[in-house]
Amino acid sequence: MDQIIRSLPLLLLLLLSSTTSSTATDTTTIHDILRDNGLPGGLVPKSAYIASYSFDTDTGLLSVNLTQPCYARYDNSILAYFDNFIAGNLSFGALNGVEGLKQEELFVWLPVKGIIEEEGSGVILFDIELAHKRLSRSLFEEPPDCHASEALINPVQDIFGRRGGPQDER
Ligand SMILES: *[C@@H]1O[C@H](CO)[C@@H](O)[C@H](O)[C@H]1NC(C)=O
Ligand SMILES: *[C@@H]1O[C@H](CO)[C@@H](O)[C@H](O)[C@H]1NC(C)=O
Repeated sequence: MDQIIRSLPLLLLLLLSSTTSSTATDTTTIHDILRDNGLPGGLVPKSAYIASYSFDTDTGLLSVNLTQPCYARYDNSILAYFDNFIAGNLSFGALNGVEGLKQEELFVWLPVKGIIEEEGSGVILFDIELAHKRLSRSLFEEPPDCHASEALINPVQDIFGRRGGPQDER
């Protein structure tokens, strides 16, 4: 009996700690919301860069405040720019009326207007100004790091797989 009473505090502690950790894992993130709506979670940067967000389930309006405007790179090729504030209308498999997101296309930054999952094809369609860009969904599963300056991002291989430009040749 004495034994049991003495181990009670320990038991309580164990119980408490397991409750806390399960609450922590139950916490919904913006990435979960995207995934629950059929989109890859990595369309927005890692949680460390998300200051706050809100999702209105009635209107589908998703708004996100980042800790700072920043640049992210996906798969060493696609370069994205996130404004301080990004928003869009979220429905299953699509984020429309996107604000605050740009992609670099041949050295020009173009606003992304819509992001649509082509159902079952593993392809995400980016509706950027003047063009539709179809990219593999798998590139966007992992939320990326996001850097305040474009210069902080690792140099990239260009579309021909070379590093740097002609000025790199010695
Ligand atoms: C984002 O920040 C703005 C201005 O600081 C604030 O008005 C807005 O409520 C914030 N939105 C979210 C989703 O936190
Ligand atoms: C979302 O859709 C509503 C109409 O359904 C529109 O008024 C609003 O501007 C849209 N939001 C964005 C961020 O485009």
